[in-house]
Order: sequence, then C-alpha cells, then structure tokens
Amino acid sequence: MRLVRTGAFLRAARYARLTPSYTTSSYLVSTTRCNQLSNRCASTSTITYPDQSVPLSDEVDPRKTEDATDKDGATEGFADFLKSQPSGTIIRNADHAQSGANISGKSHIFDSTTNVTDSILKLVGRQLYHNPDHPIAITRSLIEQTFASPRFTHHYASNPVVSTRDNFDVLGFPEDHPGRSRTDTYYVNSKNVLRTHSSAHQHKAFQTLGKRLAKILERDPNKPGGGGFTICADVFRRDSIDRTHFPVFHQMEGAYVWSAGPQREHAIEKSMKYLPKDLDMEVLDEGGPMNQETNPLQYGHSELEATHVVNHLKRSLEGLVSRIFEASQDDNKDVAKQPIKVRWVEAYFPFTSPSFELEVFWQGEWLELLGCGVVKQSILDNAGLEQSIAWAWGIGLERLAMLLFRIPDIRLLWSEDERFLSQFKAGRFNHFVPFSKYPPCHKDISFWVQASPATASPVAAEGSAGVAAAAGGDATKASPADTQPAAFHENDIMEIVRDVAGTLVEDVKLVDEFVHPTSGKKSLCYRINYRSNERTLTNEEVNGLHEQVIMQMKDLPIEIR
Ligand code: DAH
Repeated sequence: MRLVRTGAFLRAARYARLTPSYTTSSYLVSTTRCNQLSNRCASTSTITYPDQSVPLSDEVDPRKTEDATDKDGATEGFADFLKSQPSGTIIRNADHAQSGANISGKSHIFDSTTNVTDSILKLVGRQLYHNPDHPIAITRSLIEQTFASPRFTHHYASNPVVSTRDNFDVLGFPEDHPGRSRTDTYYVNSKNVLRTHSSAHQHKAFQTLGKRLAKILERDPNKPGGGGFTICADVFRRDSIDRTHFPVFHQMEGAYVWSAGPQREHAIEKSMKYLPKDLDMEVLDEGGPMNQETNPLQYGHSELEATHVVNHLKRSLEGLVSRIFEASQDDNKDVAKQPIKVRWVEAYFPFTSPSFELEVFWQGEWLELLGCGVVKQSILDNAGLEQSIAWAWGIGLERLAMLLFRIPDIRLLWSEDERFLSQFKAGRFNHFVPFSKYPPCHKDISFWVQASPATASPVAAEGSAGVAAAAGGDATKASPADTQPAAFHENDIMEIVRDVAGTLVEDVKLVDEFVHPTSGKKSLCYRINYRSNERTLTNEEVNGLHEQVIMQMKDLPIEIR
C-alpha cells in the first residue's frame, strides 16, 4: 500500500518510440545568482525573491509564428489585444477563432483542442519556488546544493506553455500515449500544452549544455569534460481532487553529461570519486544496473561504461535522499530518529534506458520519490551531444516537501495565510504545526452515464495506475482524439469543481456506482467535500458553490439524477 497514489507525480510508462528533435520556446533562466542572494531576501508574500537572473538563451523560437495564431485565422489585432491583458486572462468570444488568452505575457489563440480554464490559468506564475522561505523553495534549494555549481547550473522555467513536441515528441512519446489525452493534459491549443513535466525542457537544456561542453573540449581535446543542470518548473495535470493532488505541482529535472572524447570512460570512473561515501542508510538494489530483457542497455553503449553511469546516478541520488532526510531529522529533534531505507526499482520511461525509480521507506510505507535513467542516445544526438553519455532524473517537490515538513494537505502549499507561511524559514525543515481544522460539509451529486468503454469504472482505472504514463496519463484512458466531449471522464467533474470552488474543496470521491439492469446505463455518485484550510464555510456559500457545480455539470454528456 502506498501513502500517496503512484502515478500522481511520477508514472511508469509502457511504450517507447523516438522522434525528431526541435527547439523549445520556453526560456530557462539561471538562478545561481538568486541562490547566492537568497539568504538576504526578506519574505513577506509568495514572490519576494529578487529575480536578478538572466535568460539562458534568447534564441528566437522558429515555431512562434506557427502557433495557432495563423492557423485559426486570428487577426494580429486580437493577438495584440490579448497581450495587453493581464497574464492569465481568457477572452472568450462567440466567434471561436477569436478566443484566446494571455499566458505569461504571450498571446495564445484557442482552438477546438483547448481545455485550459480560468482557474488553472490563475495558478500560472505564482512561482512558489522563488519564495526562499516556502517549503517548495527550501526543498528545491537543498537539491541544488547537493548537485552543486559549478558542475551543475541551476535553472527555472517560468513560462509553462510548451509545444507538444517538447513535452512529448522529442522525448519519444508515441502518438497514442495516454499522457497526451485531453482528459489528463491541459491543452492551450492543438500545438501547445501547459507542460505536464519538467522533462519538456530537457532538449533545450541539453543543447545549451552541449555548447558549453564543446567550448571546453575545443580548448583542451584531451581533457574531456562533464557538466550538468537542474531545472525547476511548475507542471500541470488534470487529475483527481484530494489531499495529495493539485492540478499544479512542482518538479525538478536533473541531468549530467560526460562529453565526447577518447578519455570519456576514464572520466566517468574518475567522477565516482566525488560522490558521497559511507552513507548512513540501507540501500536495497536487487535489479542491478540493467537487465537485457526488462531494462536494457542501449544499442551502442558499452556495458562497462553504462554500468559506471548507472552507478554514478544511483549513488548521486542516494546522496541526495540521505542529505534531505538527515536535514529533516536534524531540524525535528523531538521526533525519534528513523533509519533511512531506500530501494531501487526497475522502471520504464520513453526517454531513458535503463530506467529506475527510487523509493524510500518512511513511516511504515514504501513511497516512490523519483524517476531516472540513462538518457536515450537519440535525445543527446538531437541536441548536438553526439558521442556523449548522460543520466537524468525527475523529482516531484510536493511529495518530498509534504513528507519532510509533515504537511497534511497539498492545498496548504498554495495558501497565502500567514499562519502557514510564517512557520517556515530558508534552510530549515521543521514540521508544520496545524493551526486549526475547520468543519467539512459534503454534498453528493448522482448522474447517469452511458456504460461505454470510455466510461468504464473510474475505480478500475485508478487501480491500474501502475501501467500508466510518465508525464501523466492513465493508460486506461482514450487518446486525445476521442476523449471529449462524447464520453464522460472523471477528470471532467474534477475540473468543474476546481473551476467553481478552487481550494475550497478538500476532495471529490466516487462513493457509489451501479449499472441499471434493464437500461444498461451506469449510475455514478460523487461526494464533494467542501472544507477550507483557512476558515469556516457558511451553508449558503457551500449551497451556492454546489449549485454552480450542478449547473456546469449539465454541459457534460451525463444525465443528472
Ligand atoms: N518526467 C518524468 C515524469 O514526470 C520523470 C522522469 C523520469 C524524469 C525519468 C527524468 C527521467 O529525467 O530520467 O514522470
């Protein structure tokens, strides 16, 4: 049994296919400077970090003009009008071609694939990872310190709109991969999504790193270099509503590359020397570095070299976990110390081979912490890193922060309540002290759906999360083309509830389900649990919200009972 459902933050995937590379439109910003300054910043609200960082690259994105602007017949004037609106503003016009939004200062024209909502766009740009005293930023900062500069450069990607190419294609996601489904992913339009994972920036980051490493090699061809990066980003997934799921969460991506050259193998071996030794933790690793049947070595990689890379990856991440859990235990001396125990599990991601997940045994349960592996060679080749070899990982920050700070409800991380924010300070991992518990108020909604395969039991879909997809996506769901609006999908009710009530809902659960014996129609009953973390909700308020939910549900392919 897992404390937090697998699949919310990191999911194993089933398929692999490699596709051509492309240049990303999102920009990455160096934060090394910010980190140096972080101790000096006061924090009074969510974004107080002095952002003195510089764009990593100001290359013009060749796809900019290819955005839906031209395709949907939107006028230049409308694009300019959108740009003049505050970020997050959606302009809906009766004429479909003229609907769009300003997201992070850029105009995006909607089309028939669009499913972003006002409530999700309101959450764009909060950048919790920039407030040095916020649990997300404290966790991020410790990760950055572990993968220290100058070997690693640290970045964040502020604009969440990425192309489907960067989010899926470049990384080898097949066309019918469930992660691409509109039920699971927020589409800005048919070409762009709100990124579903920080790996969407891998390609661009590898390109930039490639240029840096090439310069080093040019200076001294006999001294092959290596270098890495981390990227912090908010990522977006349409998902269920409960204490561990929020439609936006944070991930960090990390990678390390050993550049081309005759000395490469020697260089990898040498890097092992810099890793932490004799960690005070128990490590279970039955699968070893690879398995030709289930977790293969890539074509063209030598077994010896790939083994070194896997070992380097695993030891680096064990060092990270040890450092983080030690820091947390040191800052909470009143709680009895637990021995740290982790295990390596074989995994599958379209962009790595071999691939692994790291789990930690914490408070009696095995919890999945991160996914990682040896980067697919085609990804490196496409980014100009031919003859190089690399590892990469992706970590969900909420998962870690909730464990370390003992935060019981993910919504708290978005709270602007001083009773929450004032409890944390940069560099400290103290446990959260709950300030109060306000009463819940639940309301049910029952309706009929057609018992087609696409409306198969949401409960069954839940249980099969293990075969789901990296970057989100449940393998039991249909592809982007045929999910909406013909069939009801559980995430549709989640989206409506989120749009109407935002963080005033603690969870939404399916509480009853049956098929009518003669009509064959399926009845579903969902319970919406209204509860604020910050105040008592009045009856009238809850009734008003619930009525709005019911009103909006009427647009779905369902029959309210
Ligand atoms: N992007 C993956 C996800 O969100 C996580 C991940 C797995 C990132 C393996 C990586 C990696 O860089 O190598 O599920």
